[in-house]
Amino acid sequence: MAKKAERKARERDAKKKEKRHLGDDLLAPGVGQQQQQQQQLAAGERGADATSKAEAGAAASKAEAGRRAREERRCDRRQRIWDEEKLPLAAASFRICVDCSFEPRMTEREVAGLAKQLRYCYSVNWKSPNPCLWTATDLPAGKSQILAHLQGEVGFETWRRRGFTTSAKPLEVLYGDRLDDVVYLTGDSDEALTDLDDRNVYVIGGIVDRNRLKGAALRRAESLKGGGAGGGVKTARLPIAEHLDGGKMNSTPILACNHVFEILLKYREFGNDWGRALDAVLPRRKGARFVKKREEEKRTTAAAAAGKDANGGPKTSGVK
Ligand SMILES: C[S@@+](CC[C@H](N)C(=O)[O-])C[C@H]1O[C@@H](n2cnc3c(N)ncnc32)[C@H](O)[C@@H]1O
Repeated sequence: MAKKAERKARERDAKKKEKRHLGDDLLAPGVGQQQQQQQQLAAGERGADATSKAEAGAAASKAEAGRRAREERRCDRRQRIWDEEKLPLAAASFRICVDCSFEPRMTEREVAGLAKQLRYCYSVNWKSPNPCLWTATDLPAGKSQILAHLQGEVGFETWRRRGFTTSAKPLEVLYGDRLDDVVYLTGDSDEALTDLDDRNVYVIGGIVDRNRLKGAALRRAESLKGGGAGGGVKTARLPIAEHLDGGKMNSTPILACNHVFEILLKYREFGNDWGRALDAVLPRRKGARFVKKREEEKRTTAAAAAGKDANGGPKTSGVK
């Protein structure tokens, strides 16, 4: 009996508590409103957030459009500079050809290295006050990895509008009708360049080999020599030894393609001064100093009487 009474008392208490809770809600309607207000506030904030995100997005795409328009204007301006100022100079100058026929003998890494050197050549030529027209030969589309690397370069399409072309043909086909104007540059030639002739095509072997393919460019040039009359492709090395004034250099200093390319342009930029051109381009690690034109002229005048060259050696005819 007592237990029954206890249970009933507990049930009464529980009902009272329940009523009190219900009463709490009825007595404090502000709590519900607060919750509602908080929900509205959160929804408002979400709305404001979405608006500011949309505004930020619009501002970003406006900025992007502005950046693109500025870039296009800069590109147009550069193209005008090329078309109106540089192209006439380039068209009147000698040409440079990079012979890429050595690709099958190079490793993937060397091929990528050559593509990088061609990029430097493009940049040097574009910035030069006396650029030239130049081409890379033996680059068949879909087969040549060198070409694939170049096509992957940002802005490669503009290269073609600024003095650079590629050809699937080998140089002996591309220049087949004027092989007498072709001078194949190789550090292994017996002849030194004396000057540059605007009618000529100067060929640089597209080789990155860390000295693995010794004499490859010379052999290639010899395979292109004309008939028995001694005509056809000539070879020449840069006149490095002839212009050394101090420091040391290997007996046959072999340079990277882009350095050879830049030396040819600098020679013209510095008023046909090999000493200044070599000094400006050759990496300092080669540790050499070169005789500049004015000093050379003084030495030449003094040596002329003795029938020698400016360095006191026997006079050689050289190649232009
Ligand atoms: C890294 S070299 C390649 C060396 C390679 N073993 C060879 O047979 O020429 C790249 C190219 O730059 C040119 N070159 C390098 N040093 C030169 C120099 N001292 N005189 C003329 N051309 C040079 C040549 O056309 C050469 O093929």
